[in-house]
Amino acid sequence: MKNIIEKICERTYSNGVRFDGRIPTNSTDAYGRFDLGGGGWTDGFYIGMVYLAYALTKHKKFLEIADKYQPYFRLRAENNPDWCRQNNILPLDHDTGFIFKLSQVYRYKLIGDTEARTLALKAADILASRFNSVGRFIRAWDTWSWDTDPQFIEDKKGKMIIDSMMNIALLFWAYEETGNKQYYDIAASHTDTVAKYVVRPDGSTFHQYNFDPLTGEPKKGVTGQGYSDDSCWSRGQAWAVYGFTEAYEYTKNTAHLDTAEKIAHYFISHLMPYGLPLWDFACTNQTFRPIDASAAAIALSGLITLNKHRPSDIIESGITKLKNGLLTHCNALSIENWESVLLHACIGSAYQKGNECTLIVPYTDCPIIYADYYFLEALMKLENCFNL
Ligand code: GLY
Repeated sequence: MKNIIEKICERTYSNGVRFDGRIPTNSTDAYGRFDLGGGGWTDGFYIGMVYLAYALTKHKKFLEIADKYQPYFRLRAENNPDWCRQNNILPLDHDTGFIFKLSQVYRYKLIGDTEARTLALKAADILASRFNSVGRFIRAWDTWSWDTDPQFIEDKKGKMIIDSMMNIALLFWAYEETGNKQYYDIAASHTDTVAKYVVRPDGSTFHQYNFDPLTGEPKKGVTGQGYSDDSCWSRGQAWAVYGFTEAYEYTKNTAHLDTAEKIAHYFISHLMPYGLPLWDFACTNQTFRPIDASAAAIALSGLITLNKHRPSDIIESGITKLKNGLLTHCNALSIENWESVLLHACIGSAYQKGNECTLIVPYTDCPIIYADYYFLEALMKLENCFNL
């Protein structure tokens, strides 16, 4: 495993030389070169890999790469609407934790940069300000300039999504850093609300849940990136395994561990025989059934931590299947001049809604930067060298 981690770190470095301070957005071109630009929810993943590589090796060359990104994160934390509009940057929303935990919290923890701490706390304030105190949830997206569906615009006023479980760590960290209990209370309340409405009795999850924004009344669970409203989108399920385990680590509330375990069992029992999750667990009848390597890598990392707190044969078997599945079927490390670590992920819905034969290209069955981040994190956990 050490050998693979070393190769990923080398690739992270050579990528950084080409990127030269530019952020890989999502996926690659046909030659394995990441699209550069950033400005969305994925901005933390490449820099997160750089900090993991630095944490492991302590090579200054990784910090030199990381330094190039600081001016951008400084501006991003300002969240100035004019700057965002002029530069095609998504204003910060529920995904703020992905961006600032992996960039600024890591930087602060690794090198004690107090400006990084300030930027991360600023981001935590923005995330906390999205809390709907009646419904007790952190609101997902804002209205986007490209939104056309009036119902979606209306629903977004009271929408919560499962991905948010990956972002509350920023609030728990902010509480530990400042002692301000408000951060903790918001993160803990949000976690309880997700457990109540987004997690179904069989351990599967909705992608999104709509509430009345004024009364906080629950309305219904829906999907955006999955196959159907009542199916289970595997990346959402993976975010939930990881997020509830992380919530337990901060709160020591064993109910979160119970929830994580139930979600993990559903995930593991729905893996394909070759050890990987389809993009949506309901998508078993199509001719082409895309897997999602990002869901596998996120779940792998979450399960390794879950296994530390609630060890079991089932969780252990899930770890083995996912690790072997990724290494056997998705490994891009032997492809020369290729930038991603993994192949075969899905960014959004693989099929057009209502037409299960029409694949959405190009963002189906492709490399994605967050699959790479979580894979490196998971391998470092397996080698007991992840402590961020
Ligand atoms: N946070 C968005 C996604 O998982 O695609």
